Amino acid sequence: MRILRITFVAFFILIAAALILTAGRLNTAPALAADQPAAALKPIGKPVAITVPLGLPPVPIPADNPPTAETIALGRRLYYDPILSADNTISCASCHGAETGFTDRGSVSTGVGGKKGARHSPTVLNSAYSDLQFWDGRAPSLEEQAKGPIINPVEMATAHDAAVARLQADPKYVALFKQAWGTDRITIDRVVKSIASFERTVLCGNSPFDRFYYGHDKKALSASAQRGLKLFLDPKKGDCASCHTIGEKYALFTDNKFHNLGIGADIEGKLNDLGRYDQTKNDADYGAFKTPTLRAIALRAPYMHDGSFPTLNDALSHYIGGGNANPHLDKKIHALDFLTFDERADILAFMDSLTAPLPTEIGPPPDLAKAQKPATK
Ligand code: HEC
Ligand code: HEC
Repeated sequence: MRILRITFVAFFILIAAALILTAGRLNTAPALAADQPAAALKPIGKPVAITVPLGLPPVPIPADNPPTAETIALGRRLYYDPILSADNTISCASCHGAETGFTDRGSVSTGVGGKKGARHSPTVLNSAYSDLQFWDGRAPSLEEQAKGPIINPVEMATAHDAAVARLQADPKYVALFKQAWGTDRITIDRVVKSIASFERTVLCGNSPFDRFYYGHDKKALSASAQRGLKLFLDPKKGDCASCHTIGEKYALFTDNKFHNLGIGADIEGKLNDLGRYDQTKNDADYGAFKTPTLRAIALRAPYMHDGSFPTLNDALSHYIGGGNANPHLDKKIHALDFLTFDERADILAFMDSLTAPLPTEIGPPPDLAKAQKPATK
């Protein structure tokens, strides 16, 4: 009898709980569809596996943004379309254009109204592998990074809600967002997630170096570039790979860390840009900048975070001289003046071997190709 009563009470509690839960869900369902938190939002299409060229590892994918054919295509369009800028003149590609190795020719970049930024545009190629984005690492993901330039007054200068309103007023975009995200309600999170998914396909590998080193094609590199590779790796010679890393199975050419080479230091060793330090307030980060990848480096002049070196030879000369003296110069940077002129030429030949033709799928969509004009010469 007692057992029966307990069973009955338990049964009753269960039913009541189920009723409360269902009612709760029914009540909140419409609100959720409209205002889901960004993290709970996934594209509706079938996730695609991004194929990587020789010499690159698998692309890290965030759990809440698996790339789909639809989000990649939408992101590519948003990347090349000046629609996100205040006066409809500047797209992401103005400063990270395909023909210049996904960077631009200015020492610092130029945004709407000819306004100059403070730093040189880094390449978007292989930025999918960066632990942190920007020269100073201030954005934790490609998604967060993409919010920056839209709103930045010296880049695209558009408030996020204004950018979204402009897209929402364009029936072509409304249809594309519906296909990609299952809703015609455009949000800034869906915009940046689409752009980030496209960026995860902007990859550079399969260069002569990769075919030589990972593909075992002995003819892929000239004799000079092969000697340059040895010098690049040798801790007693160039020692470049201690920061621009080359792994056993793939090469990112970056340790994803921050170092001070004294770029921008004046004659007294005073730095005009404190780099990573401004983010961490950690003394070790004073004047330190993220090690950039060296892929497609021959296409990416001018060089360094301030674009102060017009040629690769100028960048190499900086290392030969041991960087610019300042109290926080990285311990790995020291004069390399013992390298002969032939050895210097070999290192340059090696750096030239890191460029490969880029697939047309990462260039502008055909109907937007005409709209491409670089922001800086
Ligand atoms: C006016 C020029 C300009 C425009 C427009 C612009 N960028 Fe940039 N971008 C830069 C500069 C300059 C930096 C480096 C800033 C810094 O590190 O402080 C940068 C940094 C980045 C990085 C970080 C790369 C790395 O290695 O850390 C990515 C990724 C990127 N931009 C993507 C985009 C996307 C996507 C858009 C469009 C939504 C865009 N950019 C629009 C100039 C621009
Ligand atoms: C201590 C780590 C370290 C070592 C060693 C090192 N680099 Fe770098 N490299 C960096 C960092 C960090 C930057 C960016 C610095 C800045 O802009 O302030 C950079 C920038 C460059 C650039 C310009 C890239 C761009 O996007 O503008 C080239 C080219 C380059 N390095 C080549 C070399 C070569 C060649 C060697 C060997 C002789 C070498 N590096 C050794 C860390 C290193």
